Amino acid sequence: MRVLSVVGARPQFVKLAPIAAAMAGRAEHIVVHTGQHYDELMSDVFFRDLGMPQPDVNLAIGSGAHGKQTGAMLAELEPVIERYQPDWVLVYGDTNSTLAAAVASVKLHVPLAHLEAGLRSFNRRMPEEHNRVLTDHAADLLLAPTEVAMQHLAHEGLADRSVLVGDVMTDVLYSVRDSVVARGAVTDPGAGYIATIHRPDNTDDPERLAAIVDALAGLDRPVRLLAHPRLVAAAEAARVDLQRGAIELAAPLAYPDLVAAVMGSAGVVTDSGGLQKEAFLLRVPTTTVRPETEWVETVELGWNVLVGSDLAALPAAVQRPRPPETDAAPYGDGHAAGRVVDVLAQRAANRG
Ligand code: UD1
Repeated sequence: MRVLSVVGARPQFVKLAPIAAAMAGRAEHIVVHTGQHYDELMSDVFFRDLGMPQPDVNLAIGSGAHGKQTGAMLAELEPVIERYQPDWVLVYGDTNSTLAAAVASVKLHVPLAHLEAGLRSFNRRMPEEHNRVLTDHAADLLLAPTEVAMQHLAHEGLADRSVLVGDVMTDVLYSVRDSVVARGAVTDPGAGYIATIHRPDNTDDPERLAAIVDALAGLDRPVRLLAHPRLVAAAEAARVDLQRGAIELAAPLAYPDLVAAVMGSAGVVTDSGGLQKEAFLLRVPTTTVRPETEWVETVELGWNVLVGSDLAALPAAVQRPRPPETDAAPYGDGHAAGRVVDVLAQRAANRG
């Protein structure tokens, strides 16, 4: 079986790691990087730290408006998919790279599998929501991370294309957590908070951005703000000072360093999808600066509190007492990637 994975943005490199490992010896795995993320800290460090081979193809598309970026990827992906003629194109999550590869595959009648299918925020303002809905409806095989995702797919009439495999981010997180602990990289639990903010709804409205930064600056412990390039650019444009009060401004971290930093923190403040769930899996309380989340289990279990329009509620949410412990495992057992390869191989074999 030949599988062509298309990735492009930071969270997709994390998801690729366990898939690439599970493919080894079982499939010919071609990795195409669209180049949506290109900085060393947004891309290269993930391939290095997570033990992945370099991508077979890098399209080096770079940044741009949605249509321009997605369209450029679509045009460049077409000849690559034609050249490799894979049994599957495998796409990950909900970025513009995901959508471009989905459209390229269906136009070429190449079977398309979507990993992390069925997540919904029901917020049509988010580019990720369009990307994931359109990709799910285009795909031939929907690999869902959770029961809730399976229910969303069923409601949209997609049950017969859907399989519950678990969450591959659990696979990679558990293995990185174990290696971080083994080398003693976790420091001083509870010293401060870890924060990341990068969603357009938070960064691109100067008033909201200033209010979020004010709230972070006023927290009761040091806040290490790991600044995504979008945040830095938006703050500069809006003349919002990111380095003040409790905030310690820092560059994004490599994945093992992020895991160590979260484990050694008193709490996480974020608008990232992945980080909400990683913090829950590490049992670190999280406050999500969004009106809704795709990872509803983290909220239901008490480990994640949402702060949407009322930013005055942020300090009390972040400084809340630790929630009751839980051994719930809504994101699987850390062996999802093996299941993904099983399902792809089985379906490809059935096709003859
Ligand atoms: C993208 C995804 C988002 C995901 C996020 C993870 C879409 C629509 N959004 O958002 O779902 O959560 O990645 O980080 O696909 N930039 C750099 N260097 C880089 C990459 C980006 O400086 O390596 C800057 C550029 O100014 C760029 C901006 O960041 O315009 C935004 O990058 P882009 O890839 O468009 O979207 P993200 O905000 O990263």
